[in-house]
Amino acid sequence: MCGIVGAVAQRDVADILVEGLRRLEYRGYDSAGIAIVNSEGALTRVRRLGKVQALEEALNTQFVAGGTGIAHTRWATHGEPSEINAHPHVSCETIAVVHNGIIENYRVIRDALIQKGYLFESATDTEVIAHLIHDLLKADISLREAVQLASQQLEGAYGMAIMDKRQPDRIVVARSGSPLVIGYGLGENFVASDQLALLPVTRRFAFLEEGDIAEITRHRVQVFDREGQPVERAISESNASHDSGDKGPYKHFMAKEIYEQPMALQRTMEGRIQSGHVLDDVFGTGSADLLAHVEHIQIVACGTSYNAGMVSRYWFEALADLSCNVEIASEFRYRKSFVPRNSLLVTLSQSGETADTLAALRLAKEMGYMSSLTICNVEGSSLVRESDMAYMMKAGPEIGVASTKAFTVQLTALMMLVVAIGRHRGLSDEKQQQIISGLLALPAKITQTLMLDKEIEQLAEDFSDKQHSLFLGRGSQYPIALEGALKMKEISYIHAEAYAAGELKHGPLALIDAEMPIIVVAPNNELLEKLKSNVEEVRARGGLLYVFADKDANFKSDDTMKVMDLPHVDELLAPIVYTVPTQLLAYHVALIRGTDVDQPRNLAKSVTVE
Ligand code: AGP
Ligand code: GLU
Repeated sequence: MCGIVGAVAQRDVADILVEGLRRLEYRGYDSAGIAIVNSEGALTRVRRLGKVQALEEALNTQFVAGGTGIAHTRWATHGEPSEINAHPHVSCETIAVVHNGIIENYRVIRDALIQKGYLFESATDTEVIAHLIHDLLKADISLREAVQLASQQLEGAYGMAIMDKRQPDRIVVARSGSPLVIGYGLGENFVASDQLALLPVTRRFAFLEEGDIAEITRHRVQVFDREGQPVERAISESNASHDSGDKGPYKHFMAKEIYEQPMALQRTMEGRIQSGHVLDDVFGTGSADLLAHVEHIQIVACGTSYNAGMVSRYWFEALADLSCNVEIASEFRYRKSFVPRNSLLVTLSQSGETADTLAALRLAKEMGYMSSLTICNVEGSSLVRESDMAYMMKAGPEIGVASTKAFTVQLTALMMLVVAIGRHRGLSDEKQQQIISGLLALPAKITQTLMLDKEIEQLAEDFSDKQHSLFLGRGSQYPIALEGALKMKEISYIHAEAYAAGELKHGPLALIDAEMPIIVVAPNNELLEKLKSNVEEVRARGGLLYVFADKDANFKSDDTMKVMDLPHVDELLAPIVYTVPTQLLAYHVALIRGTDVDQPRNLAKSVTVE
């Protein structure tokens, strides 16, 4: 959910920590804090409610020197967003802790510690960790051993970093259910919940595994497994672009990422398509053989990633003659489901850390799936490391909480998967060539579609005072309506629903009036005529229509219907292109309504709690 940054160095680390928080702020951002221990063992803590900027301003007036420090941006789960509930939490002015996740048994531990005389200042679950470790250290054990013992008592999910002012040369970190990465510097070492935070200071990273505990000093990092046995975690060089934390010429990361889509699609296909074919093994070593035997696809994902899966179901069925089920991860994991023979489990995730999706994968691995594939955007993320096969999206870091380029890249990757499987299931060479050339032409099509930005910006004016909206689509454009409604909801805060257009007359039509704008994502296939009837049903009841359609669909604007002509695109790939105007519409409506586009209220970029 949120962000952890830690450092052990000779130089003062406050600026490094705050810069790291700034780069992680998209993950969770209701409050932020830092704790620093200097070489004399003085522990200083500064916390602020609100964005990292508030913490930065506080530190500008109160510079904190010291080479060992931990810092945190919070996405509250227990205890309201406030300075007193912000991390780091401290015990007896000696132990400082920052934590991502949820300690599910914190009440029991808190009661026991209160019995021992510990005073709690916050309403968080996290604070129990600080007092628990302080209590364990009375037994004259090392900080790492105390963290190991504490980990055995904690239930739930955590990524945490701990400092003891009596040992100012080290930080101990532990990972169980919430990611942590070690950054290796020269004479200094670091930890963060996402490598993006540390790119300004290092490119050498090692990803901790579930249950790992690491002791970090300036010159050494020791990693221990759940049983306390020393383990080695491979160090890799990151090629993530350092400037991915900058908006460039754009006002928001979301705008930058909408406009990056042509390049992102190009990057995800680079080196994976050759003379009209998807190359073998682009979905992982040995995937070509395995995909030849797939007889059923089970897709599991959340949010925008789920919507991408919903689109691909139409493709798997129509092009690869393959049954495909798509489920929301938080539902899948609590439902008895059946695993047909030779079923492939596919998880879709931009972050690779979504708790529900990760839990679904772990559950599925016990259910007899032939294999698991993740289509994911973050190297070294949990889903990548725990899946049998991984397709790296290479979309570049996506900072805006509202997912945009990740969605269209996921769709591109899914269509490549459809072709890679379909060729073993009757998908003709000619059809493959048609699809592949359509995919290769997509960046140009999206560039063309982005030229509608100004028109859509004007359209957005109509939504500035609306409280509700309805998105309609049919066939593979229905999930695009779902995605358009999700974008509108999450960044403009307008209540937006999506419906399969044919369903309108079964109830939702009652909602139609001049205050309920209806956005129609029109299919350019045999369903178009059906959709036109649905449009007439709405017009007859005074609804205000906004139609995104192929310019050859012959929709004509008038006083109750505004039509946006999109460039012609193969109907199979239309969902990928038609997403773009709905992204732009949500973005411009949010701008007009003055919401926080990149960090909408109540949300976080990576939902690593259940
Ligand atoms: C999408 O705009 C939202 N930020 C959210 O629904 C997101 O798609 C969902 O949390 C899944 O995230 P993931 O792709 O990283 O797993
Ligand atoms: N559960 C902790 C809290 O509410 C940590 C939440 C987070 O991951 O930011 O403070």
